[in-house]
Amino acid sequence: MNQPVMGGVAALNVPAYIKHQKLINWVAEIAALAKPDSIYWCDGSEEEYDRLCQLMVDAGTMKKLNPAKRPNSYLACSDPSDVARVEDRTYICSATKEQAGPTNNWMDPAEMRRTLHGLFDGCMAGRTLYVVPFSMGPLGSPIAHIGVELSDSPYVAVNMRIMTRMGKAVYDVLGTDGEFVPCVHTVGAPLRPGQKDVAWPCNATKYIVHYPETREIWSYGSGYGGNALLGKKCFALRIASNMGNQEAKQDGTGWLAEHMLILGVESPEGKKHYVAAAFPSACGKTNFAMLIPPASFNGWKVTTIGDDIAWIKPGADGRLYAINPEAGYFGVAPGTNTRTNSNCMASLGENTIFTNVALTDDGDVWWEGMTKEVPAHLVDWQGKDWTPASGTKAAHPNARFTVAATQNPVIDAAWDDPAGVPISAFIFGGRRSTTVPLVTEARNWVEGVYMAATMGSETTAAAAGQMGIVRRDPFAMLPFIGYNMGDYFKHWLRLGEKVAAKNAAALPKIFCVNWFRTDDEGKFVWPGFGDNMRVLKWMLERTEGNAQGTENMFGTTPRFEDLNWDGISFTQGQFDTITSIDKDAWKEELKLHEELFQKLEGHVPQELVQVKADLEKRLSV
Ligand code: GTP
Ligand code: SPV
Ligand code: MN
Repeated sequence: MNQPVMGGVAALNVPAYIKHQKLINWVAEIAALAKPDSIYWCDGSEEEYDRLCQLMVDAGTMKKLNPAKRPNSYLACSDPSDVARVEDRTYICSATKEQAGPTNNWMDPAEMRRTLHGLFDGCMAGRTLYVVPFSMGPLGSPIAHIGVELSDSPYVAVNMRIMTRMGKAVYDVLGTDGEFVPCVHTVGAPLRPGQKDVAWPCNATKYIVHYPETREIWSYGSGYGGNALLGKKCFALRIASNMGNQEAKQDGTGWLAEHMLILGVESPEGKKHYVAAAFPSACGKTNFAMLIPPASFNGWKVTTIGDDIAWIKPGADGRLYAINPEAGYFGVAPGTNTRTNSNCMASLGENTIFTNVALTDDGDVWWEGMTKEVPAHLVDWQGKDWTPASGTKAAHPNARFTVAATQNPVIDAAWDDPAGVPISAFIFGGRRSTTVPLVTEARNWVEGVYMAATMGSETTAAAAGQMGIVRRDPFAMLPFIGYNMGDYFKHWLRLGEKVAAKNAAALPKIFCVNWFRTDDEGKFVWPGFGDNMRVLKWMLERTEGNAQGTENMFGTTPRFEDLNWDGISFTQGQFDTITSIDKDAWKEELKLHEELFQKLEGHVPQELVQVKADLEKRLSV
C-alpha cells in the first residue's frame, strides 16, 4: 500500500505486487473521473469471492440459497429494465463509419469520448471501484490476451472470477509493461452522501462502446451479462475479431474470434474429432456442447471444450486449432432440465450464481422447463409471490447461471490446453421454424461461407427487443462482429484459401443445421438435444468420407436411410417434413440474401455474389 490519500480522491492503495505503472496511472485517471469512494484491487481468492457475495447478500442484491439444496450458491435478481444485452446501444467506434460497417452502430470516436466523459464524471460516487484483472485463455499462454476491467459492480467482480482466469497471477504475466485491454464499466448510479442503494443499480441510459483502434471498452448503465462482463462479448468477440482481422494484414492469415461452442466426439473405436458450432444466442450452444448421446449410441462420448466463444488459429501443421478463451459458462437457465441436459444440471449442483430465476419455498431455484411438476408456490424473479395461476413466467426467459467450466462432468481433457484442439468441421445453425432443412454439407469452403453469411434466425430473449422475428444473423455473429461485416466475410474466405494452399485436407468441412422446424401445430418435429448426435455422427463420417448422402441444390444432405435411427421411432414422413425444400420459400429467402448484400454494398466478396447467382439459377429450373 504505497499511495497517500489525496483530498477528496479515493486512495489508490496499489498492492505492492503490481509493478505496471501504465496500469496504475490508468486506474488513477479513471478514478479521478468516476470519483468512487474507494478502490479495491481484486486478487481472485476464494476468501475475496465469499466476502463480496456476502456484501451483496447484505445489500439485498443476492440471496444465499439453501446450502443443503444448493451449496455455496446465490440468486441475484436484476432490475426489470436490465435483463439482456442491448444491441441498439452497442457501438463500434472505429475511425470511420465504413470500418464499422452498416450492421453496427457507429459514432465518431472523439464525439463518443466526449459523451462518455460527461456520463462517467462522478458516476461511481458512493461506490467502490473494483479493479478486476483477467486473462482470456490460459494464463501466460501465447494465445491468451489480458484485460483489466474497472467496475463499480461487485456482481461483475464475482462473475468475472468464474467466467475468466481472474486474479493476482494476471499481474505476474503483465509484469511492468505487458499489454492489456482496458475495460471500464459502471452501472451509472452514483449515490449522494447518505443515499440508500437499491438492490440492482443501473441507469435507463446505456452505452456499450468499443474503440477498435485503441482496443478499449467502455460500458455504461447496465449490470447484466454481456453488457457488463466485458471479457465476453465485448473483448473476446468484438475486439478480438478485430485483432484477428488486423493480424491478417501482418502475417497474411490472421485468426478468428467466433460465437461458437467447441466439442469433442469420440467414437466407440476411439477415434476423436473436434467440431466448432455457431448458433445465435439462446439457440442451443450450451446444450450441444454437453450433448449426451442416445442410449443406443453405446460407446460414443461427447466432451466440452467451450460453450460460447472460440478463438481459432492455424497451427504449424496447417490445421485450424481452437481454444475456449473463457473459464466458465454464463448459460440460459429456462428449458434446462435433467432429461434434455443432465450434464448441465449436474454442473449447477453447487458454487453457482443464478440470475433472474425463481426462488422455491425451500430456498432453491426453479425455472420454466426445469421440472415437469410446477411448484405450487414460488417467489418469481421480480420478488413477487407466484403460483401456476399467476399467468406470468416465474423465471425471466433470459435468466442465466454462472458456473465454472471445471464443474462440467464432461469437460474435455484438453479444454485448458494452450495449443487448442484441431477442428474437423464447422457447423452453423439458426432457429428456423420453416424453410431451412435439418442438415446440409456445403460443397466447398466458399459455398459454406455463403451459407453461414446468409444464415437467418428467429430472435430470442438473449437480447432486448422483439422476439421471434427472422433476421439475418451471419455466422451467428450479427451483434458481435467488431468491424465491417463484408470484410469479415472476406477474412473467412482468405483464411480458408491460406489453409487450403498449405494442406487442402486440413480445411474443415462446413455444415448447416436447423433443429427448429415445426409442424402445423407449431411443435418442434426434430427431437433435438441428445438426438442431435444422429446428425453429428453423419457429419463426422462425411468428414472421413464414410457416409452417404444425396445432392440437393445447396449441397449434400442425408437420405432417411443415411442416419442412424436405433432407439427412436422417427418416420420417413417426419424426416421429410424437416428436410423438404420449398422452392417458393427459398425464392423469398434469396431476396433476403440480396437485401443483406445490398446493405453491405462495396464490401461483399465477389465469390459470394457468384454463389448467389448460381443458386438463383438452380432455383429457377
Ligand atoms: P447464448 O449463451 O445466449 O449464446 O446461447 P446458447 O446457444 O448457449 O443457448 P442454450 O444452449 O442455452 O439454448 C437454450 C435454448 O435452446 C433453450 O430454449 C433450449 O430449450 C433450446 N434448445 C437447445 N438445444 C435444442 C434442440 O436441440 N432442439 C430444440 N428444439 N431446442 C433446443
Ligand atoms: C449471448 O447473448 O449470446 C450470450 C449471453 O452468450 S451474454 O453474455 O449476455 O451476451
Ligand atoms: Mn453467446
